[in-house]
Amino acid sequence: MKSDKSKCPRHVGIIMDGNGRWATKRLLPRTAGHRAGVKNITSVVEAALNAGVRCVTLYAFSTENRGREKDEIDALIDLIRKHIKPMTRDLIARGACVVFSGDSSYFPSDVQQLMADISAENSGSETSVNIALNYGGREEIIRAARLAAESGEITKESFERELYSSKLPELDMIVRTGGEKRLSNFLLYQAAYAELFFTDTLWPDFDAKELLSMFEEFNKRTRKFGK
Ligand code: IPE
Ligand code: IPE
Ligand code: MG
Repeated sequence: MKSDKSKCPRHVGIIMDGNGRWATKRLLPRTAGHRAGVKNITSVVEAALNAGVRCVTLYAFSTENRGREKDEIDALIDLIRKHIKPMTRDLIARGACVVFSGDSSYFPSDVQQLMADISAENSGSETSVNIALNYGGREEIIRAARLAAESGEITKESFERELYSSKLPELDMIVRTGGEKRLSNFLLYQAAYAELFFTDTLWPDFDAKELLSMFEEFNKRTRKFGK
């Protein structure tokens, strides 16, 4: 990887897709894919932070994922319950702060408590890992508009202050694994000028090497912002 960290995207959003297909290919239940997917998170996030990325947003559970079979949702919530603390402790230990986007009231109270405990540990570090849980871009936009309207006129500033991402750097790049070429309600407002990267690699197989090669390509793209 190049040494010029200033050229690195500041904020990368990752749509971690393909866990179910990863498992099905191996004749395993979909939940085995989710387990493999969780195991893959730390190394990819650490590679991004080591390369100089200031914020990684992980799409872990969408508002639409609530429409999946109850067994799958329960298994996903169990994985969150089991892994969120150890995983975030490692990230906090390396100087990142961990924040959440989404409506946490959907989750059982013990999981909400884990999320609150993690949020309370935040050091105010410049580097952050933002975990999108029960997150939907449309819900975020409607919520921000409502909150901004409650406190006065809706302007770009008052609206953006109410987004979950208000304290995070500008989104430069979205990576989607698993082959689909869509945003699936991820960071709809923030994606305005993000560079989009799609790969057929299923999330449990995605690794630091592939991410770093995407950063190389990111640096070759000309960002024009309409100018
Ligand atoms: C992404 O993998 C993880 C979540 C949405 C929670 P999927 O479960 O969507 O896996 P595929 O797309 O069915 O392979
Ligand atoms: C997006 O993947 C959500 C997450 C990765 C958490 P989905 O698998 O839910 O998206 P669709 O259904 O293929 O659009
Ligand atoms: Mg999927």
